[in-house]
Parts: sequence; C-alpha cells; structure tokens
Amino acid sequence: MLPEYFKCKKIVITAGPTYEKIDPVRFIGNYSTGKMGYAIAAALAENGADVHLVSGPTRLEKPHAGISMYQVESAREMYDTCIRLFPDCNMAIMAAAVSDYRPATYNDTKIKKKDDRMILELVRNPDILAELGKRKSERQIVIGFALETDNELEHAKQKLEAKNADAIVLNSLNDKGAGFSHSTNKITIILKKGIIFEYPLKEKRDVAIDIITCISENFN
Ligand code: C5P
Repeated sequence: MLPEYFKCKKIVITAGPTYEKIDPVRFIGNYSTGKMGYAIAAALAENGADVHLVSGPTRLEKPHAGISMYQVESAREMYDTCIRLFPDCNMAIMAAAVSDYRPATYNDTKIKKKDDRMILELVRNPDILAELGKRKSERQIVIGFALETDNELEHAKQKLEAKNADAIVLNSLNDKGAGFSHSTNKITIILKKGIIFEYPLKEKRDVAIDIITCISENFN
C-alpha cells in the first residue's frame, strides 16, 4: 500500500442490500450481509480516509469510530444520499447489492390474500454506480462490484464499460466461499486500463486490504 495515499481523501461507499417496500410489513430484498463494504470502509478509515458509508439494512455495527454513517433502506434513498455526497468526494466504491427493481406502487395497508395468483408489477430502480460514472470528473475515481454466475470476466468488463467505472471488483458465485453470506471472498480486479489482478480466497478483512492496496498503487 502506498503510505499516506488515503490521508484526507473523502470516499463514499455503499454496502448491504436495499429493501423495496411492498406494504407496511413486506419488502423485496436480498441476502447481502454488507460485510464486504463494511470491511473496505474500516480498512480505508484505518488508513486515514474520510469515509462516508451509505448502508442498507444490515446487522453490522459501525466498523470504525471515524466513519460517517448514513442508514438507508431503499435504492432510491441510497441513490439520493450518494448523489448528495459525491461532488465533494475523491472516490466512490459501490459495494451494495442494490435491488434492480421496486414495486410500482406501495400499498398503505397490508395487502390481503385473495386469488390463487397475484401479480406484482415492478419498475426499474436508478443505477447509482452508472449515474456516478456519468457524473464523475477527471479527478474522481469510481469503483464497482460485479457478482456473476457465468462468463464472469466478460460480463465484468462489459459492466466496467457500460457504467464508466475505473475498476470493477468481480466475485464469481462459482467460487466456493465467495460472495454473499460468507466471511471469505475470492476476487478479481479489472482496471479500466486493461490490467487484471487475481487474488486467492481470503477473509473479507484481508480482501478489503487487497482492494485498497490495488487502488492506492494504480490510481494517483
Ligand atoms: O449491474 P449490476 O447490478 O450487476 O452491477 C453491480 C454494481 O453496480 C455494484 O457495484 C452495485 O453496487 C452497483 N449498482 C448500483 N445501483 C444499482 C445496481 C447496481 O450502484 N441500481
């Protein structure tokens, strides 16, 4: 890791799932625990960064005393918070498992069961990473994640391009011990300039160090 690299750098990080409300007692969510994003936030704070962690619902505690926390629930709340924070940031790391869709309407009261079948209409959520990629200036760095099940490298490269990210951290669901709900992860980092770094299976704490070391050594 380049010493002092993260000192005085303001960084926004997203982590965890988003919950998209259906009615007062139901939502659409996913199994993300937030561990990876929280581990990166902690590693950055330990290395002197001014970390702003925008978190969906998780069971995790604030990972470092110096971090500014923003608790959100839905993708749209996460989007609004990131858009507000980003202009002053040097870097954005989007590690959240954002729900791609939300219910088209929210029911104020609990939906009653009626027919044997029920159709729930969904609409697209904003893509936070793509929007920050669009808005970023020359001096800002935007990093995304990709969780893939097939043609991993190819899909991750397409994501890097489509979202105008500077790097994508890929985890494959085909790798044992990687991805959601594990305390370990196995990643590949793909840089916009074409370099690819592969790492072995590690604890998420150590994966976080690899990610921030890679950032410090490849972006100035
Ligand atoms: O397109 P896909 O969801 O696979 O892209 C994953 C990356 O995009 C992750 O970095 C995730 O945090 C980010 N993302 C986002 N907003 C969305 C969907 C994904 O920031 N609505």
